[in-house]
Amino acid sequence: MKTYLVIIGVTGDLSRRKLLPALAEIVKSGVEKDLEIIGVSRRKLDVAGILQASGSDAGLLSPIMSGFTMDLAQADEYTKLKEHLALDENSQALIYLSVPPMAATQIVEFLGRAGLNQPNVKVLLEKPFGVDLTSAEEMIKRIEQYFDESQIYRIDHYLAKEMAQNLVTARGGNALFAMAWDNHSIEKIEIKAYETLGIEGRGEFYEQTGALRDVLQGHLMQLLALTIMRMPEAFDWDEVPELRRHALEQLERADPSHSLRAQYEGYDEEAGNPGSQVETFVRVELASRDPLWLGVPLVLATGKAMGEKTTEIRIHFRARTDAKGNQLVFRIQPHEGIMMELYLKRPGYERELQAHEFSMPLETTTRLPDAYEQVLVDAIRDRKSLFTGGDEVLESWRVLQPILDAWDMSDTPVQVYNKGAAEL
Ligand code: BG6
Repeated sequence: MKTYLVIIGVTGDLSRRKLLPALAEIVKSGVEKDLEIIGVSRRKLDVAGILQASGSDAGLLSPIMSGFTMDLAQADEYTKLKEHLALDENSQALIYLSVPPMAATQIVEFLGRAGLNQPNVKVLLEKPFGVDLTSAEEMIKRIEQYFDESQIYRIDHYLAKEMAQNLVTARGGNALFAMAWDNHSIEKIEIKAYETLGIEGRGEFYEQTGALRDVLQGHLMQLLALTIMRMPEAFDWDEVPELRRHALEQLERADPSHSLRAQYEGYDEEAGNPGSQVETFVRVELASRDPLWLGVPLVLATGKAMGEKTTEIRIHFRARTDAKGNQLVFRIQPHEGIMMELYLKRPGYERELQAHEFSMPLETTTRLPDAYEQVLVDAIRDRKSLFTGGDEVLESWRVLQPILDAWDMSDTPVQVYNKGAAEL
């Protein structure tokens, strides 16, 4: 099967930093052989220039990449794209959109109206999927007029990170974890994604987004779903999206009084909007009504310009009589692996307990594929378990909407933190 990957937004940051390098790796590894890339742009595309800006390996793509010039705002230009692709029963098109959400919706409608929505066309969408519950509902409704949900691939690259996938295999593949995965054994779950970088010139984007919409609503909610969902039978990955959806559906709507928003010092000037109230840090505490998780605080936090780059899921096990509570950490990045805090005897003549941290890095002799490589290969092969379903998107917004509403109405200024803060 020949695959045409049509990239809309090919000159953008994401395409240059993530997509084209990932495609170069896919080509290098030979895992997908019959691939052709078409970069869509308004003016004639400088393919060599773009590939050069995407890193040296991206040069591997030059034999299979070409440009297609079109005005995305003109409905009739999509018919030309359809003619250009000339799909038959031995080919498929993946149309990848890295553009703001409302532009994406409009483009998808144009594709549909031009008849570029036959079953061998898939649309790959980048987050954010709406900016709140209402806009997400609208986006989904407008898209489903032309495309079946099975043709829509919503990318949340956190789902494809190696250790995120390992949540499923580690939970399901080890009786030690499988037997202890509920509120009898677990007293709290914390998921955090801290970055040392600030907004790095993305002020305009970030002013419309903020940490809750940029990272928490998608990436962290998905990691939470993987952590608390029921397990699929016999590792059937096709069941995973529905299990994640069910886990999200069981979450109570967030209580704004259990949330914190903050902004790093100097952000507003950097973003070109003095006095901006946009958050660069957010923490929320959620609760599930699933009997397995009743009473367990589910704490999600993300921040820019923090002291350390770390994304992890920390499971706090309950203490029992004389036994101390342990911690199990899934290190999503960097240093992918598992850390376990266990109590052992303090070395020496006394018989006292002492906490030890055991770090178990993932085996590193194999190169870990980048999350973007995984999602592209899976989309080519019709595998949907690493993509976010429309119903998951809506559940996630439903849970978080009370916080957005409370922030909108609040006149309490956003808390300010120093760059490099370890914790808030
Ligand atoms: C993106 C956000 O989705 O994820 C960025 O828009 C963030 O603001 C990035 O920096 C983090 O991704 P990763 O893979 O570097 O952890």
